[in-house]
Amino acid sequence: MKWLVDLRDWVDARLPIMRAWDTHLGGYYAPKNFNFWYFFGVLSLLVLVNQILTGIWLTMMYTPSAEGAFASVEYIMRDVEWGWLIRYLHSTGASAFFAVVYLHMFRGLLYGSYKKPRELVWIFGMLIYLALMAEGFFGYVLPWGNMSYWGAQVIVSLFGAIPVIGEGLVEWVRGDYLISGITLNRFFALHVVAIPIILLALVLLHLLALHEVGSNNPDGVEIKATKDENGKPLDGVPFYPHVVVHDMIGIGVFLFVFFFILFFMPEMGGYFIEYANFEPANNLKTPEHIAPVWYYTPYYAMLRATTFDIGFTAKFWGFIIMAAAIAIFFVLPWLDRSPVKSWRYKGWMTKTWIYVFAFTFLFLGYLGAKPADLVILGVGATAWAQIFTWVYFLFFLTMPWYTKLEKTKPVPERVTG
Ligand code: HEM
Repeated sequence: MKWLVDLRDWVDARLPIMRAWDTHLGGYYAPKNFNFWYFFGVLSLLVLVNQILTGIWLTMMYTPSAEGAFASVEYIMRDVEWGWLIRYLHSTGASAFFAVVYLHMFRGLLYGSYKKPRELVWIFGMLIYLALMAEGFFGYVLPWGNMSYWGAQVIVSLFGAIPVIGEGLVEWVRGDYLISGITLNRFFALHVVAIPIILLALVLLHLLALHEVGSNNPDGVEIKATKDENGKPLDGVPFYPHVVVHDMIGIGVFLFVFFFILFFMPEMGGYFIEYANFEPANNLKTPEHIAPVWYYTPYYAMLRATTFDIGFTAKFWGFIIMAAAIAIFFVLPWLDRSPVKSWRYKGWMTKTWIYVFAFTFLFLGYLGAKPADLVILGVGATAWAQIFTWVYFLFFLTMPWYTKLEKTKPVPERVTG
């Protein structure tokens, strides 16, 4: 294998691949106490690769036109060899992407991974989340089913609520006087070219920023603070091979779950692909109950819950509240004023709030997926969504106080376990 070593050295003299390996893998030290929650970063990467590969293959057989799109998806499902698998890998993959990314973000919340010095890692993460939401939305329009059509109609028309420029903006986004094949064409371009490039660039920046400061861990202890005589963190292990092998376990378990869902419930009872999307787009027939796919429903619940129309229309305020609900995550590093990172050492207020917030997010998600006339315990869904929209914002807005006021536990110098 001498030729292989020679080839490596030849390349290395021109492009520092060994240095990159050393910086990011062999010589990169990760905390040795990574737990379950630390699997979701690598799983996000895995699903990203899956989406890109299956997306490329779908694009080979998909027709991006109002006349051909629906039929081309049916053709992929019925006639193309293994086409059903490629399509379900991609459509179920989209839901898997959000599931792992939400768990990945929740880990950040538990262990204060957004706090100094990882603010930029968090901000790049949030930009990824925004790009992902746009990517999912554009992708859902492409099969040109009836929910694709009406989903696009609801979301694009939101821009129409913006005073003065709204109507013009909507027309510009649609490229037409109604959602049409022209709109489908541009969404296709954004879905397969523009946003994936942005996503890949953001993921690269996310990881570079992370490797500059190093990973946090369940104890929130900076492992760089205690090093051995060779300058290696005492509580760290080299990423390759230790973390790579450890990640294999997470990947294995994930693949079992993912393929189980893919083979036995790829549409997840209408939550991953809604039933209305098995009918072709029809601008004369509104689906009985328009709701987005599950990963947007917490925000959709907030949009529908906004009924006040002081100064502007309720739709405009709903749009603002929805945008604010996402935007507030960006400033999380500055809202948390606790001297400690991990919730293990934070006080009872943070712990209670994290449980309440998790419930709130899930409950809003449930409400957003259900028709607005739903009644729970004698209270209508809109009122429930209004209450929990308040709770959602209070979690963030009161954070500077409760994180500052509560009594924290002493953080150990070295990681535990
Ligand atoms: C395509 C989506 C994403 C990919 C591929 C990705 C990838 C990764 C990877 C591989 C890691 C290191 C392993 C780990 O800590 O789990 C990581 C860490 C991190 N990510 Fe992401 N990420 C994504 C989205 C996000 C989002 C949406 C956020 C939050 C808004 C986020 C916030 C973080 C934070 C704070 C860390 C550091 C965690 C720590 O050290 O405790 N990421 N990411």
